[in-house]
Amino acid sequence: MKHIYRYPFSISMLHWLLAVALIGNLIIGWMLDDNEDLLALHKSIGIVVLGLALVRVLNRLRMRNLLPPSTNAAGTPAYLAEKVVHYSLYVLMLAIPLLGWLKTNAAGHVASCFGLFSLPTLVSKSHELSHWLGQLHSLTAYGLAVLVGLHLLGALAHRLLKSENILPRILPLPTRVLQHRRVARDRD
Ligand code: HEM
Ligand code: HEM
Repeated sequence: MKHIYRYPFSISMLHWLLAVALIGNLIIGWMLDDNEDLLALHKSIGIVVLGLALVRVLNRLRMRNLLPPSTNAAGTPAYLAEKVVHYSLYVLMLAIPLLGWLKTNAAGHVASCFGLFSLPTLVSKSHELSHWLGQLHSLTAYGLAVLVGLHLLGALAHRLLKSENILPRILPLPTRVLQHRRVARDRD
């Protein structure tokens, strides 16, 4: 039987592309109060994130039989925590840009991506709706930051408590490099 010990290349690539875009847009979002000129850039990156997140979820479904098994034993609290955090991250990477899009429409604007195209207008202008969607957008963005923190703590806990380095599982390196590293480690 083929031993699957790391994520397929497409999953790893999308993981890191989205990690950079999401964390970057979180930071830009928190800078908006002091620099409104960043709003068009923030919306454009967010629309790219929404597209990439959709591709990521579809690709994850396509690859579901080629994933490495969890390093946590099924049914343990660590296994449950891992699943809850991962699924919540998937939900938020779709929900946050969607809420931003709706908030923009409710404020009476179209959501444009780098001036190249605009998303369809889904809700009509409403001051109250715009306020609540803005609040939800902000709240879910804070939720994302907390979950990313927990996600990092999880990886760190594997390293410190179990002496397991799980990072190579999600690195988009050619298999050759990882196999070489494995052989070297087994020799030591
Ligand atoms: C916004 C930032 C991030 C998001 C949204 C995110 C999301 C995810 C998701 C959803 C998975 C599960 C993949 C699956 O099974 O479908 C995953 C796996 C993983 N992520 Fe992240 N991630 C982020 C940042 C990071 C960072 C900065 C690290 C660095 C330590 C990291 C390390 C990992 C590792 C090691 C795995 C594989 C876990 C395993 O062994 O199964 N992630 N990530
Ligand atoms: C995908 C990743 C996204 C992240 C992580 C994100 C995050 C944030 C954050 C942290 C803020 C500041 C909230 C605050 O300080 O209370 C913000 C504000 C905002 N975002 Fe996003 N956002 C994303 C996508 C989008 C998209 C796609 C749009 C619209 C097309 C958008 C439109 C807005 C608007 C209009 C504001 C100002 C909200 C207000 O003044 O109430 N965002 N975003």
